[in-house]
Amino acid sequence: MSILNMKNVCKKYSTNKKINTIVLKDINLELKDNEFVGIMGSSGSGKTTLLNVASGIDKCDAGEIHISNNNICEMKKNELSLFRRKNLGMVFQDFNLLSSLTVEENILVPLILDKKYELMDGNIVDKISNMFDIGEILEKYPYEISGGQQQRVAICRAIINSPKIIFADEPTGNLDSKSSKKVLSYFDLLYKKHNASILMVTHDPFSASYCDRVVFLKDGLIIKEIIKQGNKSEFFNCIMKELEGFNDIE
Ligand SMILES: Nc1ncnc2c1ncn2[C@@H]1O[C@H](COP(=O)(O)OP(=O)(O)OP(=O)(O)O)[C@@H](O)[C@H]1O
Ligand SMILES: [Mg+2]
Repeated sequence: MSILNMKNVCKKYSTNKKINTIVLKDINLELKDNEFVGIMGSSGSGKTTLLNVASGIDKCDAGEIHISNNNICEMKKNELSLFRRKNLGMVFQDFNLLSSLTVEENILVPLILDKKYELMDGNIVDKISNMFDIGEILEKYPYEISGGQQQRVAICRAIINSPKIIFADEPTGNLDSKSSKKVLSYFDLLYKKHNASILMVTHDPFSASYCDRVVFLKDGLIIKEIIKQGNKSEFFNCIMKELEGFNDIE
């Protein structure tokens, strides 16, 4: 079954009344239950826009988007916010941490908004933050920690609610290889053992090699899709080959 289904989705931005930039052109993309899909493409190709539209942060101009059979394009604003909070986890490219809250409070935001705070296992923040090596900085504020640490806080916040679907925009972009591997292994665990589905934007072929499938975006169009066959390192080589092919064309 598919958890996310995008049909003929288009998105344009108008910078002024005369100039429309078409950023997504007829996107058809399906994310199945328990699937981990990567999105690659050069800067400006529309990757963040695709995640924003797929997750209901931004409205599309044409097409349909279903998440677990709910048409999110037809939801009212409040209904959509509630739906997103209950079902989706987001890791933003620029983290979007709240600067007036500590690391711990930032991680807890989804549970507090959902009034699940009292019900939760008291150690959950400790467990999750230790897993990503940020257990020591829970009392600090976002401006007091590094970019890589902020990224890991954003990941903890996205997964604390056990969402069915995680949208992650460059979740390893600011991390060293050890932290990247930790995050990717955790994503691996989430979708293999905890029934989550993940849509992840990445520039990095190593991160993409964890996915089941990688979709390549160019100028707002999906131009290619490759499906994992064999192991991670074989898939890494396939992805590298595709990327080299695109560079040759450009
Ligand atoms: N709010 C906006 N208003 C106008 N144009 C926008 C807006 N957001 C994005 N764009 C334009 O849409 C195009 C796609 O942007 P997007 O952020 O989706 O690219 P991206 O593939 O995520 O790039 P990067 O790899 O640099 O993050 C770009 O040309 C960008 O300038
Ligand atoms: Mg982006």
